[in-house]
Amino acid sequence: MDFKENIRVVTDFPEKGIRFKDITTLLKDGICFHQAIDALAEPFQGQGIELVVGPEARGFVIGAPVAYALKAGFVPVRKPGKLPAETLKHEYNLEYGKDSLEIHKDAIIPGQKVLIVDDLLATGGTVQATISMVEALGGVVVGLVFLIELSYLEGRKNLKNYNITSLLKY
Ligand code: PRP
Repeated sequence: MDFKENIRVVTDFPEKGIRFKDITTLLKDGICFHQAIDALAEPFQGQGIELVVGPEARGFVIGAPVAYALKAGFVPVRKPGKLPAETLKHEYNLEYGKDSLEIHKDAIIPGQKVLIVDDLLATGGTVQATISMVEALGGVVVGLVFLIELSYLEGRKNLKNYNITSLLKY
């Protein structure tokens, strides 16, 4: 399947000069969504992944079905003030600004094998923040999985020690 055909490129969103990769056109095609999730999960079948960690919000949409496909648990990483129990907080750089993310402190048992899943690798700020939190809780990051990688932003450069897979590259 040519997944790229199902990604809508929206020019000048959210700012002038940005060519935004809109995944909603892929998500609304049931066959395409299903095949994309299977393709993302497949390399990790039988690898003993115990948890998928996904950052809000599009990381939930991609991460939760990958977790289901791997029979792993799902742990949300959320924007501040959304998680109800005790959290660990980490500040990070976005493609378009600064923000922070939180994870529940008891979300990961030290030593658990974790796959971090998101829709997009852009600058890598979000995934770096997520890695920091997972590792601070004792999780073992087995891989980083993205539907889309914006190669020209070189997010990979700061992620040299990690196994990165992305389905679509721009
Ligand atoms: C987007 C995307 C990734 C992140 C990638 O999320 O879903 O999580 O940016 O960018 P980075 O590699 O430069 O950090 P966004 O913060 O826009 O949140 P959303 O999913 O809630 O729209």
